[in-house]
Amino acid sequence: MAEMRVLVTGAASGIGKGIAEKFLAKGSKVILLDKDEETLTNTIEELKSLNPSVQSVLCDLRNEVKIQAAADGAWSYWDGIDVLVNNAGVAVRESFIDIPLSNWDHILDVNLRGTFLLSQILAKKMIDSKISGSIINMSSKNGLSGSSKLTHYNSSKAGINLLTQSMAVELAAMNIRVNAVAPGFIETPLDRNLKQKEKNLNLTDKTPMKRLGTIHEVANGVYFLASKEASYITGTTLVIDGGHLANGSEF
Ligand SMILES: NC(=O)c1ccc[n+]([C@@H]2O[C@H](COP(=O)([O-])OP(=O)(O)OC[C@H]3O[C@@H](n4cnc5c(N)ncnc54)[C@H](O)[C@@H]3O)[C@@H](O)[C@H]2O)c1
Repeated sequence: MAEMRVLVTGAASGIGKGIAEKFLAKGSKVILLDKDEETLTNTIEELKSLNPSVQSVLCDLRNEVKIQAAADGAWSYWDGIDVLVNNAGVAVRESFIDIPLSNWDHILDVNLRGTFLLSQILAKKMIDSKISGSIINMSSKNGLSGSSKLTHYNSSKAGINLLTQSMAVELAAMNIRVNAVAPGFIETPLDRNLKQKEKNLNLTDKTPMKRLGTIHEVANGVYFLASKEASYITGTTLVIDGGHLANGSEF
């Protein structure tokens, strides 16, 4: 699988950047998609040392016209894409009662609608080009179990799980596998910001492994699902959470 052509969304920072690094280190050709131009430019410069062929495409995943242009542009770099990683996502912590419609729409638009649209465009291209592709969607433990202050985020990630299953069912006949990963608490700038804002938040209290996961551990799961090692795996959501969800009855 050394020659995989891979598009990773939300790849300018955090987990997406780590996923891009993993594929680059394994010899894949990688395109980073993000809406944040400055961070994307800096990240590309940094990652060129791993593989000078790394490319980028600027796109706000809330906009269907920009998504189409980004998909066309990304496809044209190497005349095809074998692996799409729909990693980009946004979250805001606020009570259900207080969620403004604008935040509901923003989170659902990036996390779910953007994933649907980009996947649909690239799946069609894969089918037309007879590419045996793989699509990996970024879910979360929050898509499999509820929590306070993240109703919109949790709903978007639950949607990702059923989007993943439904796409997998229809696309299996076209040799496209579709899976998701569901990380628990991962050590990222996002988690560090949360802890700074809410000092009482203990992110590892209910996690049996008693530590945050690393970006590298999530990237390993994504790479596995994209690889030939996972050739009979489709429609699944791989939980990477240090046992957090398994601990549901603990008090
Ligand atoms: N950090 C965690 O603990 C954790 C846990 C479970 C799941 N996740 C999921 O992992 C994914 C990555 O999270 P992260 O922690 O690396 O976050 P992050 O904020 O570090 O990275 C998200 C990236 O997505 C990009 N992005 C945001 N909105 C976009 C848009 N409209 N169009 C294009 N790009 C956009 C951002 O610019 C950023 O580079 C998300 O889907 C998140 O829900 C994270």
